Parts: sequence; structure tokens; C-alpha cells
Amino acid sequence: MVLVGRGAGWNDAGHVRAIMQEKGSPVAHWGEKEFTQYAVENLAHRASQFLHGEQGALLCTARIVETVPWIDAKYYASTQVMDEARHVEVFARYLDEKLETRYPMNAHLGALIDDILSDSRWDITYLGMQIMVEGLALAAFGSMYQTTNEPLLKKLLRYVMSDEARHVAFGVLSLKEAYAQISGPELRERQEFVFEAAIRMRDRFLHQEVWERLGISPRKMVPYFVRQQSEEELLFQRMLFAKIVPNCKKLGLLDGRDGWLRDRFTELGVIDFEDHADTSEEYQELSLG
Ligand SMILES: [Fe+2]
Ligand SMILES: [Fe+2]
Repeated sequence: MVLVGRGAGWNDAGHVRAIMQEKGSPVAHWGEKEFTQYAVENLAHRASQFLHGEQGALLCTARIVETVPWIDAKYYASTQVMDEARHVEVFARYLDEKLETRYPMNAHLGALIDDILSDSRWDITYLGMQIMVEGLALAAFGSMYQTTNEPLLKKLLRYVMSDEARHVAFGVLSLKEAYAQISGPELRERQEFVFEAAIRMRDRFLHQEVWERLGISPRKMVPYFVRQQSEEELLFQRMLFAKIVPNCKKLGLLDGRDGWLRDRFTELGVIDFEDHADTSEEYQELSLG
């Protein structure tokens, strides 16, 4: 294995070290070798989810080319298909050549992409992929970009982020017009879709597959892991909403139908992100020129 482990990972296993000290801990016997292995597996797990998300994006944007009713949107979406193919390739190569391992697609991410692809309404493909999955991807790439010291990973993430910000900005632009025309139950359906997708993505970070591969029972480990989730990780979960909430506001989904979605985001404690930079501003910031 080409060791890019320590310093390359999304975090440096700090919270797992803390679990080691707990009474009855399943990782009480771990030493440096195991922690390094954990950091590598953690990175491989995350990069694999990036790969699978990009594969989903490739299929969804090809679908958008077929289904979106406007020719200009078809032109744009076709350029996005090419971007997504490049993203699939770069993460596949990073996994195969640098980490030499892959993880399967996380079940929550898979279920969300299946939902998006099985819906024939073009705007649901947009909403699910361009706003929710790509919003999550931007948060995830940004988080890894800030914490990794591995130069190749940092550079490739920077390129991919620049594309993703453009994709989300395009999604917001196209949907804004369409959603200005809908109201009533149709609008509620979109609000519910956003909320369910957000919850699904929030709950996906328990790394069961990593524990299994390291020979630790996920059933025994998860309760410790949930208690010790690092601040960084909790911050990331909130960051996900920092991308989604302002974009929903811009689409009119936050306040439509008596503010149903506003109430749900308030209950989740993330409504304070509503005026964070939306992705059209971020797109300028992340642009590579
Ligand atoms: Fe992508
Ligand atoms: Fe994208």
C-alpha cells in the first residue's frame, strides 16, 4: 500500500484515540500501527463515497440532458456530464493508485441516489443531485481540503470543488424560475423531499464498514463512536446545512407553504445558516479563472 495515511486523512483519528481510554473499549489494545491503519481506511472510505457520489452525478446529469425542457439547460448539463466523468476518473485513480483499496457505496447515499434516479420529474433530479448531493459534496470536499496535508489530494479537490460550485449555482438558477411557478401540494412535496434527503445525509457518518474491515465489531464500536464524535465531525454535519439552507431559501422552498421547511430546519437547529453565502457567491470565490 502506498502510505498516504497520516496527515492525508480527513481527521487524524483523535476521537478514536479518546475511545481507547474508555472502559470496555473495543480498541483498548490498539497501538500506533492500528491508528495509522484506521486513518488510511477512513480516508479510503471517504474517497470511495466521493467516487460513488460522482458516479451518481454522472448518471443524473446524463438524465437531465434528456429530460430538462430547455435547450440552454441541455447545453449546460451536457458540459456537466463531462465534468462528472472527469471527477469519477480522478477519484477512481486516486483510490486505485494511491490507496489501493475501495469501499462500497454507503447505503444512505445509495438510497438517495436511487430515489433521485427513479423519479421521472426533471426538477426532482435537479433538486436531489444539484442542490442536495452536490451541496453535501461541496461541504465534504471543503472539509477534506482544509484538513489534508497531502499535496496531490489537496490539488485535485480544489479542481473538483471549482466545478461543483458551478454545478450547484447552475442548479439554483434553473430551479428558481421553475419553482416560482409552483405552489400548494406540489411545493410541499419538494420541501419534504429536501428535508428527508438532508436527514438521510446527516445520519450517514458512522463508518460501520471501516470497523468491520479492521476486525472490530461495528455493533460494539458505534455507541462509543457516537459519544466521541469529534467536534470537527459535528461541525461538518452542520456545514452540510450551511450549503443547503441558503440555497433552499433562494429557491423559495424555505418559506413556501406557511414556512413548513423553515420550521423543520428551525427544529434541527440549522436555520441560522439561511443567510450564509449561497453557492452563486461561492462559485465566484472558488472559480479557478
Ligand atoms: Fe462532480
Ligand atoms: Fe457536480
